[in-house]
Amino acid sequence: MHTQQQYITLKHNMKLPMVGFGTYLINDNDVQSLVYQAIRSGYRHIDTAEGYGNEHGVGLGIKAALSELGISREEIFVTTKLYPGNEAWGQPLKTHESIIESLQASLARLQLDYVDLYLIHAPFARTKRLEQWKALLELQRQGKARAIGVSNFSEAHIEEIKAAGLPLPDANQIELHPWSQKPELVAYLTRNNIAIIAYSNLVPLSSWRNVEGQASAKTDQMKADGADSPFKAMATKYGVSEAQLLLRWGVQNGYAVLPKSANAERIRQNIDLFGFEIDAADMAAIAKMDRGDGVAWQSGDPTKEA
Ligand SMILES: NC(=O)c1ccc[n+]([C@@H]2O[C@H](COP(=O)([O-])OP(=O)(O)OC[C@H]3O[C@@H](n4cnc5c(N)ncnc54)[C@H](OP(=O)(O)O)[C@@H]3O)[C@@H](O)[C@H]2O)c1
Repeated sequence: MHTQQQYITLKHNMKLPMVGFGTYLINDNDVQSLVYQAIRSGYRHIDTAEGYGNEHGVGLGIKAALSELGISREEIFVTTKLYPGNEAWGQPLKTHESIIESLQASLARLQLDYVDLYLIHAPFARTKRLEQWKALLELQRQGKARAIGVSNFSEAHIEEIKAAGLPLPDANQIELHPWSQKPELVAYLTRNNIAIIAYSNLVPLSSWRNVEGQASAKTDQMKADGADSPFKAMATKYGVSEAQLLLRWGVQNGYAVLPKSANAERIRQNIDLFGFEIDAADMAAIAKMDRGDGVAWQSGDPTKEA
């Protein structure tokens, strides 16, 4: 096993572990033991959200790991996300005041004093995006969020922040995998020193969200392509699984990755990414596989899940 972490250094010299444990679609009861297992397997970065309805269980898993595995709070990087509201879905947009309360409620569920990273989950709040960003700046000032960022934001959304003369996000969490490579957005984020956290890294797998009710937005063609994928041959060449190959592609590009699994063996496998390297020819071949927009999110479309 090669589970030693690598890190992305954020602006305030904070270290973001490149492999995080994703918890979307894990319910509040199951997540406690899975987060514990993930930490025991070497993960030091846990990704949750107010919208996932599992912060309470995530907090219990972290608490159990801290007390039983002799790990300190400072060694675990915890991310949660603000659900911003969405007028298109008849939901009020969160305001400065309600955002301060939202993080307080997340911290209470997580049983933590602070999170390492607090993200605006999506750019839904067209008329209140800047107000929401200012509230995150205030929460960072108060020490409740060590770093702050956004998720599913496009270049135009981040330019709004820049035009207002406000500090830019520390990170943008976006859907990235060989079928959705977003080269222009990646170049923009890199130019602006905004860390890239890649989610839904495993979309090309035939096993991606293939359980009834798991909100797979993959088309029939994508499902068929996943069953007969070019990643199989590459994975065999490096002696790893297809999942490891896809995750390694992310870290080799400098992105943090967030594999989710409810299976102990896969949890262990998904952090074992540092004992092989995808060669330049294979990286070049994968670069040609981009199909454009992702399946978990399409920029600007508020009807898509975030
Ligand atoms: N910011 C956002 O808007 C946003 C959106 C989506 C996701 N995310 C974050 O990113 C995380 C990951 O994204 P995701 O939930 O789309 O899932 P993912 O990690 O891309 O894929 C998970 C799927 O792949 C399967 N899988 C996991 N490891 C595997 C392996 N080694 N071999 C074969 N199959 C494997 C899982 O099944 P099993 O569980 O049965 O193993 C599950 O069906 C989320 O949990 C969440 O934290 C953020």
